[in-house]
Amino acid sequence: MDVSNLLADRTRKVEFSGIRKFFEMASRMTDPCDLSIGLPDYDAPEPVKLAAIEAVRAGKNRYTPSAGLPDLVRRLGEEVHRASGVDASILVTSGVSGGLTLALLATVNPGDEVLFLDPYFVSYLHLVHMVGGAPVPVSSYPDFRFRPEAIEAAITPRTKALMINSPANPTGRVLTSAEVQHAVAIARKHNLVLISDEIYDKLTYEGENPSPLALAPERTIALRGFGKTYGITGWRMGYAAGPASLIGEMTKLHQYTYVCAPSPAQFATLKALETDVSDHRRDYTGKRDLVCGLLEDKFEFVRPTGGFYVFPRIPSHFPNATAFCEAASRQGVLVIPGGIFSSQDTHFRISYATTDDMIRRGCDVLCKLAAR
Ligand SMILES: Cc1ncc(COP(=O)(O)O)c(C=O)c1O
Repeated sequence: MDVSNLLADRTRKVEFSGIRKFFEMASRMTDPCDLSIGLPDYDAPEPVKLAAIEAVRAGKNRYTPSAGLPDLVRRLGEEVHRASGVDASILVTSGVSGGLTLALLATVNPGDEVLFLDPYFVSYLHLVHMVGGAPVPVSSYPDFRFRPEAIEAAITPRTKALMINSPANPTGRVLTSAEVQHAVAIARKHNLVLISDEIYDKLTYEGENPSPLALAPERTIALRGFGKTYGITGWRMGYAAGPASLIGEMTKLHQYTYVCAPSPAQFATLKALETDVSDHRRDYTGKRDLVCGLLEDKFEFVRPTGGFYVFPRIPSHFPNATAFCEAASRQGVLVIPGGIFSSQDTHFRISYATTDDMIRRGCDVLCKLAAR
């Protein structure tokens, strides 16, 4: 019996992630050169794993307070204060995805518009639809900068929120202080909430990495994660920092949805906070340099300064990025077409969170495709 008429309208606006198609393709390939993965190639540090195991063995398997373990909340509050000089409220979330969902549920009414730069992290479009809002992607091509004029031009009386993501997925761009100041000025002028996705904040390779939380603590919800930083994406850990009025409402909604972030993972995150990740940052700086050096003669791209992605333009003899990525996959290389992250299919995402050997093999194939 077909029960699809039982589905809510919102499901029709949400599509299965286009990245899944490429993961399925990868599962059918033997020994693919996989440059599509959006998570680090290193595993969780041993002491962090042990802390999780010990927490489970010690019976720390029950609900925690919805806001998070008090010790963890305190430590994160201190970290935010050290970095931004702000006394923010903290909510420990089930990954940054959990934080994004709660931030949108708490601030966006049906029909409200939410602005973000195009290209964007795939979830933004769908999460905004899920809460009944209207996503408004604003093109940031060709250099993926935050252009205040373009954002201002997209603002209407229904605009409620501005989402920014730095370092960004899929472009690897880190917003400059001037760009963040523009975002803050626009949010203040139009009374918008500023949702700042900072999941890659510990993976930056040069210069500054400003957060709007320091500049506009009254209206910024900063979302940070542990999955990418410590190689624990499956543990679903993140946190939201922001003004008590907004974080308090997110905590209320958390009580009835996720209830709390996973308890053993919260205990282990206390340990993770003591772990130095500078080796990973150094390692990924090297991989960033490697991939940029291998591509620079054949592709046009913005040199990434954070995260682990680069987003080159496809060679002009391909009709679109999907065709280019399919051609690469026929040669055993997996990269993701830009149309999955954007209203235009002209670029493709490479993840360099893999071995140097894999990066060399993959870039060799991509450069040969570009040379044809
Ligand atoms: C920009 C961005 N935000 C949020 C997420 C989701 O993070 P989490 O796994 O912590 O939910 C990702 C994951 O790829 C991401 O790239």
